[in-house]
Amino acid sequence: MEKSRKTFVDAIDKMIAAASSMHPDELLFSYNGILYPAAVCSREVFQALESFEARSDDVILAGYPKSGTNWLSQILTDLIAISQKKTPGRESSVNAEDVQEFPYLEVGDAEKYERMMKLPSPRFMVTHLRPENLPKSIFKNKVKILLLIRNPKDVAASFYHFSNGLATLPSYETWDDFFTDFMTKKMAWGCYFEYLSEWNKYADQENIMTVTYEEVKENPALAVKNIATFFGIPLTEEQLQLVVERCSFQSMKKNSEKTHGTFGNIIFRKGCVSDWKNLFLEDHNQKMDKAFEEHIAGTKLGKKLKYDLYCKA
Ligand code: A3P
Repeated sequence: MEKSRKTFVDAIDKMIAAASSMHPDELLFSYNGILYPAAVCSREVFQALESFEARSDDVILAGYPKSGTNWLSQILTDLIAISQKKTPGRESSVNAEDVQEFPYLEVGDAEKYERMMKLPSPRFMVTHLRPENLPKSIFKNKVKILLLIRNPKDVAASFYHFSNGLATLPSYETWDDFFTDFMTKKMAWGCYFEYLSEWNKYADQENIMTVTYEEVKENPALAVKNIATFFGIPLTEEQLQLVVERCSFQSMKKNSEKTHGTFGNIIFRKGCVSDWKNLFLEDHNQKMDKAFEEHIAGTKLGKKLKYDLYCKA
């Protein structure tokens, strides 16, 4: 396994081991009114994060849990490798020597940000945080952010299976119980509708590009091309095809033992659009349709989600 992936896989194994010895009631803690998994995040890290110094050439992927962040992470790390004249997939292409940090910005120890100061550019990071909880330097320095969003019904379905598969999150006896928590702001990283409303305030900024899970699924080549253009990374046709091939669900799932260890089986579940239809009953549909209409429907991000197409048909 590449050294950088080993750091990643070891960190996940450690979090799972820590969570396994916790009482279910201790799995989540609240920070500034939002819940987070206690084996994954901490108050000390959030406090240290406030003074994190972003660089204008950092590459940030923002996405609510279960919106496909591992997928887009792969696309972005491959594009960064290409920008450094490396070939994605080769042992040395993903900064094997220098990527020592867990890519999720708010995950790790409080000294992480000191160490990150020594990392060469471009640094790549992922975050599930809402914009108002990100360090101010990210917006001050106009860091480019790829904002990934996914239709809320598939996010909920994916989150339900994830919660029941992963020790760091509370598990649920029934889908109904999960749905109630999802709709009443009891999720790790907070309420998805609030997440969307907060990010919507930033959606017009030129340093932010929004992409939906569904559009990447529909036309991965076009999505990769647009993302590369946004980050100013020129691509040959051959490089484009390589990235598209490597980011397909089948390739990523096949490779997941190497990239994610046993966690791979939990992350790469179905990788499709509309799996929510296997869980949602009429009552769930009515409640979510109403919440979407009230909170998001009229906004820029709400329109981008094409709710009628992906959540009603
Ligand atoms: P499902 O549970 O619906 O299958 P995250 O990485 O943010 O935790 O999101 C995980 C979701 O993204 C899972 O959804 C997973 O299957 C999906 N996913 C991961 N890689 C993917 C890929 N290459 N193509 C499509 N979906 C992918």
